[in-house]
Amino acid sequence: MTSVEPEKKRRSYATAITQAVLVLVVLLTCVPYLVSIALAEGPAQAGTADASPIFGVTIPAGYKQWELIAPAEEAAPLDELRAVVGNQTAIDAYQAGKLPFPDGTILVKRAWKRKKSPEFEAATIPGAATTVQVMVKDSKKYAATGGWGFGRFVNGRPVDEAQHRTCFACHEVRAKSRDYVFTRLAP
Ligand code: HEC
Repeated sequence: MTSVEPEKKRRSYATAITQAVLVLVVLLTCVPYLVSIALAEGPAQAGTADASPIFGVTIPAGYKQWELIAPAEEAAPLDELRAVVGNQTAIDAYQAGKLPFPDGTILVKRAWKRKKSPEFEAATIPGAATTVQVMVKDSKKYAATGGWGFGRFVNGRPVDEAQHRTCFACHEVRAKSRDYVFTRLAP
């Protein structure tokens, strides 16, 4: 009897320690994961490597599935094909002819080098992707730039701050009366 009791105690200590270690391991593996989820779901990820300088705009998930607003073409020297697409908020606003665009609107301009179709001489098709440009409407956060946050990305990485200083300047001068947006819904 006297030898059984300490043995039992020792065993329950061992179980308690094992459980504590397990809990610790689970916590240590989960916490960074949970933090990354919380950050990813946060509004703009300013300060992360994927976000544009000044504005903290990131490439929106799923934009390749978004609806087309209009295609465009850029003459030499860029020689690019473009397509402006928008999220549902953007499409709804366009269809209702609503200006200014509501908060939550996201416009993405995709761009590719122009290429001749290998099958048909007269046809031009998209070559290599060049840039992804993004405009996000948040009238409070981006009050200083007409309510728009800007992001320009090459190979998924934002370009430098100097380039981001040019965005609003040009959109402001030429498209102010249309809430700083050039692209009209293609007929
Ligand atoms: C010198 C003028 C100029 C500058 C600078 C400029 N843009 Fe634009 N942007 C345009 C024009 C013109 C269009 C419409 C024609 C087209 O699609 O190419 C446009 C279109 C866009 C669109 C599609 C929505 C719209 O307004 O039609 C986005 C998104 C965009 N630009 C983002 C940017 C970002 C981000 C920057 C800065 C890195 C930037 N632009 C800098 C002239 C400019």
